[in-house]
Amino acid sequence: MRGIIWDGKRLFTTDRLEVRAPGRGEVKVRVLASGICHSDLNMMDAGLIGTPVVLGHEAAGVVAELGEGVSGLALGDAVMVGTQTPCGHCRECERDEPANCDETWGFVPGQPFRLDGEPVYSFANVSSFAGEIVVKASQLYKTGDIPPQQAALIGCAVSTGFCAAQNLGRVRAGDRVAVIGVGGIGVNAIQGARLSGASVLAVDLNPAKEEVARSFGADRFVLSARGQSSQGLAAAMQAEATAADGLPIDVIVECSGAPVAIEAAIHAVKRGGRVVLVGMTSPGASVPLGLDAVLSGREIVSVMNGGARPEVDYPRLIELARSRQIDLGSQVSQVWPLEQFEDAINALRAGAVTRAVLDHTA
Ligand SMILES: NC(=O)c1ccc[n+]([C@@H]2O[C@H](COP(=O)([O-])OP(=O)(O)OC[C@H]3O[C@@H](n4cnc5c(N)ncnc54)[C@H](O)[C@@H]3O)[C@@H](O)[C@H]2O)c1
Ligand SMILES: [Zn+2]
Ligand SMILES: [Zn+2]
Repeated sequence: MRGIIWDGKRLFTTDRLEVRAPGRGEVKVRVLASGICHSDLNMMDAGLIGTPVVLGHEAAGVVAELGEGVSGLALGDAVMVGTQTPCGHCRECERDEPANCDETWGFVPGQPFRLDGEPVYSFANVSSFAGEIVVKASQLYKTGDIPPQQAALIGCAVSTGFCAAQNLGRVRAGDRVAVIGVGGIGVNAIQGARLSGASVLAVDLNPAKEEVARSFGADRFVLSARGQSSQGLAAAMQAEATAADGLPIDVIVECSGAPVAIEAAIHAVKRGGRVVLVGMTSPGASVPLGLDAVLSGREIVSVMNGGARPEVDYPRLIELARSRQIDLGSQVSQVWPLEQFEDAINALRAGAVTRAVLDHTA
């Protein structure tokens, strides 16, 4: 089958990738579409993962083979793939804290693939840049008639951004929320905050993102600048927030991963406010932590995938998408055939897309 391999130096497509058969409780999925997340690019840029590896962690497809003991799914079912696979029996899982289980986020990668007989690693429990993948049945949620190119985004961009606002940010009606970084994750943080009844101030250093942010429900926008200090950005956000109605910023969802933006968020949020960190920084990055600001009462929270609880949140997001209370279609800026992954990645790096999607059937 076809897939994209990262060998630590370059990305290339191959038609010689193979995946093992599904074991007990597992399912083989034929991938129809996958989104490219900035985290896939970070993995290559940081060089932190075992190689060769199949990247990608946002997928939709159809059930192609059922392992033993799988119920509730049938061949041909249209599904989205989630990333979380808590093991269920480690200390953390038994304490009902599955987010702390190493298996939840794929920190213990398997090697389900082979290329010319040699093992190839999986990534984030998904590896969606492959024609077929083997995942746990518990990662799959039926998506019905949602087009696969849209359904693919639910597994990361949609769930991470939306749940970062609603689950971790605990946004309430009447809150003012700031979302920094209007990419695939940020637009979903905006949608989550809006559905909770908040007004949203969006921040990005790309001026083209103002229109994007407003189209997903932001009502104010701050253009940040390269080289701007964290204090300067925080002051600009506070000024914009108070300009209209004098309200402070209750919650900030940081979706850019820029250390300066993270530091600005801690300064800009109100006393008693909450900063949700979603954006991934480069390895070893740090920011000075102004303890005056934090100790006078500010919460800083972060859980991967926005603290999404798959069994509750994925079906809810699928339903919200079907009833058009969240907009999936406009997030898919452009769809490329799998072979043209380089163009898709370049578009994401250039900030030219909200989400770049790969079509595995083209
Ligand atoms: N925690 C998680 O579970 C999780 C999940 C998915 C993605 N992420 C991370 O979230 C971040 C966003 O991912 P994405 O796929 O939406 O990326 P993206 O490239 O689509 O969007 C990032 C946006 O941030 C903006 N930006 C960059 N630097 C900025 C700055 N200094 N100030 C303001 N805006 C800035 C960019 O212009 C862009 O619009 C990445 O760091 C990614 O690794 C984390
Ligand atoms: Zn992601
Ligand atoms: Zn566990």
